[in-house]
Amino acid sequence: MKGVVLAGGLGSRLLPCTKITNKHLLPVYDRPMIHYPLRCLVNAGIQDVLLVTGGSFAGHFLQLLGNGKELGLKELHYTYQEGEGGIADALRLAEDFADGEPLAVVLGDNIIERNIRAAAQAYLAQGGGARILLKRVPDPERFGVPVFAGDRIVRIEEKPEQPRSQFAVTGIYFYDHQVFTLIRDLKPSERGELEISDVNNMYLERGQLAWSELAGWWTDAGTFPSLLRASNLVAESGANKSDEE
Ligand code: G1P
Repeated sequence: MKGVVLAGGLGSRLLPCTKITNKHLLPVYDRPMIHYPLRCLVNAGIQDVLLVTGGSFAGHFLQLLGNGKELGLKELHYTYQEGEGGIADALRLAEDFADGEPLAVVLGDNIIERNIRAAAQAYLAQGGGARILLKRVPDPERFGVPVFAGDRIVRIEEKPEQPRSQFAVTGIYFYDHQVFTLIRDLKPSERGELEISDVNNMYLERGQLAWSELAGWWTDAGTFPSLLRASNLVAESGANKSDEE
């Protein structure tokens, strides 16, 4: 399995800090945000990774990460997303890199306490399609939210005003090569972006979307409250120290 970290976007919710660098290079406790999703992949045994970035400060990633060896990567590849097309638009740049292999995709501002190794194994065992990771949160309206019928997800709603469950769809996804065909059929949402929730709904319609619940804490870090929360969680739990399960 190969890994993709999506670290584009303008980071407008973190202005003025993002006037001078990319959002994913801002500190979360004692290291740059981007270290956490990269380490999430390395800790799951995924060492061949593509970083998709964009904006005016893309060069900063190369200065910080180099060839990725310090973080335990075998190969760190880079590509550049032009414009502000959304998460699914950024992912489409990974098609050649993926070369038909299954992918673990992590959003650059998602930070977890534990490990996705078990989820990656479950994904490989399911033999194709997609797998998403859910987490119970107090504020699901900020995220993609699954609508359930019993244990079965029937739909995913992106940032619904009235969430139909207490779960967020975290920014950690597993996809097979079909994802690139599905992205080609996407239409921009009201905010003018190609939404990853639409991709997940397409897998759902094909009966090919599995899910698991993520153990340990999870947070995004793309707003000032969540960035502070992320730093505090990392500081309190020592999640930055090792790769324990
Ligand atoms: C994105 C996705 C959303 C997901 C979230 C996880 O939202 O669109 O479905 O729940 O990441 O962090 P964003 O925060 O980029 O708007």
